[in-house]
Amino acid sequence: MELRVPGDKSISQRALILSSLAEGTSRLRGLLSEGDPASTAGALRGLGVAIPKLDSSGSEVTFKGLGLRGLRTPAGPLDVENSGTGARLLLGVLAGQPLEAVVTGDESLRKRPMARVTDPLSAMGGRFEALDVEGHLPIRVMGGPLTEFSYHLPVASAQLKSALLLAGLVGGVGIQLVEPGRSRNHTETLLGGLGVSIIAGPQEGGWGVALSDPPPLLPALDMDVPGDFSSAAFFFLFGLLRGGEGALVIKGVGLNETRTGLLPVLERMGARFSVEPSPGVAEGEPSGDLVVYPSELAGCQVGGDEIPGLIDEVPILAAGAARAQGLTRITGARELRVKETDRIRAVVDNLRALGVEAEELEDGMEIEGTDRPLRGRVQSYGDHRIAMAFGVLGALPGNEIQVEGGEVAGVSFPDFWRLLARVMKDSGRGGLA
Ligand code: S3P
Repeated sequence: MELRVPGDKSISQRALILSSLAEGTSRLRGLLSEGDPASTAGALRGLGVAIPKLDSSGSEVTFKGLGLRGLRTPAGPLDVENSGTGARLLLGVLAGQPLEAVVTGDESLRKRPMARVTDPLSAMGGRFEALDVEGHLPIRVMGGPLTEFSYHLPVASAQLKSALLLAGLVGGVGIQLVEPGRSRNHTETLLGGLGVSIIAGPQEGGWGVALSDPPPLLPALDMDVPGDFSSAAFFFLFGLLRGGEGALVIKGVGLNETRTGLLPVLERMGARFSVEPSPGVAEGEPSGDLVVYPSELAGCQVGGDEIPGLIDEVPILAAGAARAQGLTRITGARELRVKETDRIRAVVDNLRALGVEAEELEDGMEIEGTDRPLRGRVQSYGDHRIAMAFGVLGALPGNEIQVEGGEVAGVSFPDFWRLLARVMKDSGRGGLA
């Protein structure tokens, strides 16, 4: 059985933003066309960039950038809906633009912390005003000249790191950062591919990233966005636990090492799979196929430095843990409390609603696996990854789970439910409950 997942959400949004800041016409193929990238594209259109409607086939999108400081004052608020990446990266981009703009989002995004971005950007000279609640969207940005900046990030966050790097790029000032753990590095790889010198490596206190010589202009992009590893992870787990025999193959998945931290953890749990890298590495982003075999999983301990590389995969890992033998303990993942919902609480409440023994830890969770059939109703809590994790759990043999609010999967994976129904059918299970 073979399938493909949509384009990477993080890379799609960065490609759209960098193309908007480039000189000349960029060519982007394989973009995730709906959900968060569509919201970010809408905000970029509001800033004067003529981005055509993104097409769900992933076919090539071409548009002209406005240059590093050429964005235009928008006519109204820039609403990035559910996209934390869109909001935080745009706050960085706008801090150094000679214009004023209001960035806002949906109810979930307005609850998420923005001071982690606006505080350091203010220290660089950016000016921000929260229009409703301090530290939260909607926020007015009054852009202007920025100064060079060195900063130790309080959390490993790719959105924060990227906001600061983009502010340095737009403002033409050097940025030296140290993150406590190594978060995803797509901004660095894309900039590196465009000839911008980014130096990154282990450093006292964590992982260092520096933009020391920001260029006067950014060349246009020409790239293929790989499939999203985080979307593939849902079908990877289905492939492991669907029973029967035979491989499930997920084609053309991004294999950036800062994203694939789930694989060694699943391997420890007993997962059988192989990774088949495609030849060549496009724009610093390796990709390949994942070949997954039915496996028996055992519980395990996950924590510390492993967390940033699998932060978005914790909900599906937890679903796997509910079907593994013994206890799984996940720690060091406090950041999950400030994602699209509090994912620690959402996962534990949903597992308990299904009769699984699960406990919240302040920075993670404990789950005792069971092979009892899991039946019942759970909530998405408006969070795409919670919806999909429980969708997959419900698709496993013996289980019947209704996910309320499951349509939110479209934020990162527009076709998720249809594809899940297809692989269930091909695995000999009936339709979705
Ligand atoms: C993202 C970074 C991650 C991740 C999010 C997307 C990005 O958040 O959870 O889904 O595109 O930069 P952090 O900023 O906490 O690393």
